[in-house]
This record gives sequence, C-alpha cells and structure tokens, in this order.
Amino acid sequence: MSDSSETQAERRTFLGILLGGFSVALVAAFGWPVFRFLAPREQTGQDQQVRVPREQVPVGTAHFFSYQGRPAVLLQPAVGEFVALSAVCTHLGCIVKWDAAKGEFLCPCHGGQFSTAGQVLGGPPPKALEPYPVAVVDQELLIG
Ligand code: FES
Repeated sequence: MSDSSETQAERRTFLGILLGGFSVALVAAFGWPVFRFLAPREQTGQDQQVRVPREQVPVGTAHFFSYQGRPAVLLQPAVGEFVALSAVCTHLGCIVKWDAAKGEFLCPCHGGQFSTAGQVLGGPPPKALEPYPVAVVDQELLIG
C-alpha cells in the first residue's frame, strides 16, 4: 500500500471516529431533555399528601390545587362528603372547569362532561377522571 492510500485510510478512520463522536454527543444533547420530559416524576414523601383546610371547600364548590405536580380538584358535593379528582380531562388532557350551576365538571376543549364523582356524563372522554383518596383529619382534608 502506498503512503497516499495509507494516509487516506487514516483520514477516513479519523473522520469516522469524529463523526461517530459527534453523533453520540448530538443524540445525548437532544435525547436527555426528551428523556427527562417523558420519564415519570420522582415522588418525595412531601408531594404524596396534600393538606387543604376544610373551610376552603364549602358545599357545592370546587377547590383546584396541584397534586404530585398535576392539576387536581377537591369537591364537597354534599355536607361532609369530599371527593378529590384529577382535573386533567381523560380525552386530550385539558383542565376541566367546575360548573356549579350544573353541578358537573366541563372540559372547555371538546365539551367533555363529568359527574361530581368524575364519571363521564357526555362528550368524547374515554374514561372517568382519576380519583384520589381523601381523609378528613380535624379541620383539614388530607389528599393522597
Ligand atoms: S380534552 Fe376534554 S373533551 Fe377533549
């Protein structure tokens, strides 16, 4: 093999290594943020339970709050009866609104309707709102 062909082979090897390294760096630079976005959130003990003062949820009203980093809602449909639900519509993920006049949750995006228990009453949502456990402890509501 001549010096010229050896030099070309070395050059190709060097460029191949350089291109491979650049590709790995590029995948890491773009892949890591995507991975972090899609990976499940880490849950600390503090995030797992939320305390809400009972007086913030009068009968027939809804109290929106954040539960494990996601929108949630607390409702007192009848005296002493508390319901906690995810406020994320099960259709395409819009945040539901409470319609006190109708006594149901409405999704502003495509007209999904949910009962006070989170069951689908109408519209395109395929399933009920996710329920969360609620406990009344003294004058506080403990969610989670
Ligand atoms: S996102 Fe709620 S009905 Fe479509």
